[in-house]
Amino acid sequence: MALQEKIDVLILGSGGREHALLKACLRSPRVGKVRVAPGNGGMALEAECLPVDVADPAAVLALVRRTGSGLVIVGPEVPLAAGVVDVLEDAGVPAYGPRAAGARLEASKAFTKDFLFRHGVPTAASATFTALEPALAHVRGGPVPVVIKASGLAAGKGVVIATTHAEAEAALRDMMGAKVFGAAGDEVVVEEFMQGEEASIMLMVCGEEYLMLPPSQDHKRVGEGDTGPNTGGMGAYAPADVVTPEVERRVRQEIIEPTLRGLRQDGVDYRGTLYVGIMVTAQGPKVVEFNVRFGDPECQVLMPSLETDPVAIMESIARGTFKASSVRLRPGSTVIVVLAAGGYPGEIRKGDVISLPGRLPADVDILHAGTVRLADGSVATSGGRVLGVVAHGPDLRSAVRLAYEVVPLIKFEGCHYRRDIGHRQLRRESAR
Ligand SMILES: Nc1ncnc2c1ncn2[C@@H]1O[C@H](COP(=O)(O)OP(=O)(O)O)[C@@H](O)[C@H]1O
Ligand SMILES: [Mg+2]
Repeated sequence: MALQEKIDVLILGSGGREHALLKACLRSPRVGKVRVAPGNGGMALEAECLPVDVADPAAVLALVRRTGSGLVIVGPEVPLAAGVVDVLEDAGVPAYGPRAAGARLEASKAFTKDFLFRHGVPTAASATFTALEPALAHVRGGPVPVVIKASGLAAGKGVVIATTHAEAEAALRDMMGAKVFGAAGDEVVVEEFMQGEEASIMLMVCGEEYLMLPPSQDHKRVGEGDTGPNTGGMGAYAPADVVTPEVERRVRQEIIEPTLRGLRQDGVDYRGTLYVGIMVTAQGPKVVEFNVRFGDPECQVLMPSLETDPVAIMESIARGTFKASSVRLRPGSTVIVVLAAGGYPGEIRKGDVISLPGRLPADVDILHAGTVRLADGSVATSGGRVLGVVAHGPDLRSAVRLAYEVVPLIKFEGCHYRRDIGHRQLRRESAR
């Protein structure tokens, strides 16, 4: 192979997902200097963090020029929807993530439902509304449970599963009348409730060429046994056995292939992560939603599953030269347990100093999300999801055991976490 000069990389974002991407860059033989904008307290210990508004494409381009970055990796959806990749690519800067046209698959649920129906991809039946009265009339005449979704970006808070007609009407009035999600609720999708088990399938896409990363399963509810309010995600593991070889075959054939073909037909050269949220129903896998970036916390368990350098993959996708057959995956299972701030997902405590273990066992990492570095060098809480403990093992049970050996060694006031990450699969394994 020709000797290549190392490239400096700029990562956009500030969560646990971006810390996982930073670790991947620090391990990569391809990468010179890594910078992060804006970053967090843990990332500041490992890389230069720059206070830039990453949703402002001009500000990002100026930063790239000033730092001489040769690759930009975009973590969250907001800069993608704002067209950061369009501006970077048009200026000749390779960037990992879709352009704004591709990012609509996350930024507009109404657009996505239309896309799925047009291209014959299985998903819940739905109707889209831009006015309150017709939406109310539609739910009054329909079955419950029914799912009410604000179409725009609502930071994972814009979906209500209404079990009564009164709840459905209240959700519509909140979104379309009171505008509790702002412009995200200008359009609302009313969707059939799907029964089944969910899984996340993350693809690294380069046009119609794609790599399927191991399927993963997130744990959205704050409480053990999947109880209590929704969160950004309290833990995840991969591979998730709910995606059996047969389900995987159907997902590739019935969901991924028509989706990537449909994007091409619609004139979208999609390059970046495509997160396919599926429900495994009695009729087969159906799309719950797409995201146009890695899930958080799923990213944290997927980066370690790549034996091939993830940065080399992202760079070749950004350049449009990726070949999926070049990628090697690592065997075994990876889990993340998220440690949350007191009060999360409601009003949270902030500013509590965090005590971290000095040495970690092999195959364990601590990734930062809602943390800040204080003037004295210590690290304190600053967000809802504070840290994640990532552990890898030969199988899920050993990965889970290892993670829960380390979790109690981390201490901060108000800390809470779920003790049952991986419970669905562990229960299935015990029953076998
Ligand atoms: N049609 C549906 N049937 C059953 N559950 C659903 C349906 N749509 C969404 N959900 C549930 O609501 C969650 C959030 O919905 P999703 O479409 O993923 O929106 P977002 O992640 O933007 O909040 C899903 O992870 C799933 O648990
Ligand atoms: Mg979702």
